[in-house]
Amino acid sequence: MMRSSSIPIPSTPKESSPTGSPPDTPKLMPGGNYIKPGRDSAKSTCLIFSPPEEEVGILARYLKIFERHGVNLMHIESRPSSRTPSGYEFMVECAPGGDMGAAITEVRGLSEHFTIISRNYKDNINTVPWFPRRIRDLDKFANQILSYGAELDSDHPGFTDAVYRERRKYFADIAYHYKHGQPLPHVDYTKEETETWGKVFKQLHTLYRTHACKEHNHVFPLLMQNCGYREDNIPQLEDVSNFLKDCTGFTLRPVAGLLSSRDFLAGLAFRVFHSTQYIRHSSRPFYTPEPDVCHELLGHAPLFADPAFAQFSQEIGLASLGAPDDFIEKLATCFWFTVEFGLCHENGEVKAYGAGLLSSYGELQYALTDKPEIRPFEPAKTAMQKYPITEYQPVYYVAESFEDAKERMIKYAATIPRRFGVRYNAYTESIEVLDSKPQIETLVQNVTQEMQILLDCLRKL
Ligand SMILES: [Fe+2]
Repeated sequence: MMRSSSIPIPSTPKESSPTGSPPDTPKLMPGGNYIKPGRDSAKSTCLIFSPPEEEVGILARYLKIFERHGVNLMHIESRPSSRTPSGYEFMVECAPGGDMGAAITEVRGLSEHFTIISRNYKDNINTVPWFPRRIRDLDKFANQILSYGAELDSDHPGFTDAVYRERRKYFADIAYHYKHGQPLPHVDYTKEETETWGKVFKQLHTLYRTHACKEHNHVFPLLMQNCGYREDNIPQLEDVSNFLKDCTGFTLRPVAGLLSSRDFLAGLAFRVFHSTQYIRHSSRPFYTPEPDVCHELLGHAPLFADPAFAQFSQEIGLASLGAPDDFIEKLATCFWFTVEFGLCHENGEVKAYGAGLLSSYGELQYALTDKPEIRPFEPAKTAMQKYPITEYQPVYYVAESFEDAKERMIKYAATIPRRFGVRYNAYTESIEVLDSKPQIETLVQNVTQEMQILLDCLRKL
């Protein structure tokens, strides 16, 4: 995984005053969450195709093509096609090897619709970069970890602490073995870990009322009431995830290593946020070189309970699916300047909603002074802005509202060169790829039905 291509998820404060030096903003690690493409499971190629008409034995004909060209199949699936009312389509996952090019040419010739989805998309400009289609596909990320929990940089506060490193491995193991649908494992945090959390919690809590946006301040007391947010207790991811699910459908999922930007953003399309579960080293409670449970639960979690913010976050995720690499980087930059370091207007004032700010005592104060430059959030321009990852941000972007930011993101997403549209189907927890007229007609019918419900309601009011 290239560090430069990953989502830099900040963490927390360094120990200093808001104006002091060195700044207390985190040395931001990419990904927040951690994956590395490159293992065998990531090298597979998915082909989605549908025959021109229903034909007995057509699947056998297709399979023979793969056999003839020495291409091994890891997974075969048939399903109703959303492109043709009574048709169906096949999805096969091919292992690397064999004469893939020849197999693709033959299958394409036999099909009415044909799409290649692959992590090795750079080999072929007609190939769509791989992305998860179903929520359980996110399990595939877990097997592509770059660094395991005990692998810390030499300048990490816990580098020489064998007990801490063992603990980090424990957390990494939890995430590594986690599968979609399972409850998030309960962690018995030690006294030392809880005390570290308590110091961070106490310090930040004093600032929220004056510095955090109203959405954060609205949700935070609810998290205290429902999820055990207290100075003497580290909330369980499971409790927080269930709370968010009730509010907006967002869920948390533990992550064991660094994720590429592409994979991390893809999770957001499903309203899934990859979250760390370990805590920073106790020797430096107000500093962490990577995202930890303080950053995730104090910074990120509250906002995911807000419907407009949740939708905004999901829009970034949906825009990323199958997008070219350069747009992934731009979307990751938008994520950085919004979900991580975003500011917003509120009754004539500027407040913070970015998790990197809401989990950093020093930068939260600094960001609301007149020292940094403030610009309006405009995705096309924001996406081009460079940023430091080891110091306070010199530039912040201000959103008028989450609704406004969402509308802007949707417009920006429309400029991404992609031959299809995407839509998240919350009933099936899957991504619908929209690239045919019948699909659009079905959607229009659905919208018409929704409009009817609205009109009926209006008449009754
Ligand atoms: Fe983050």
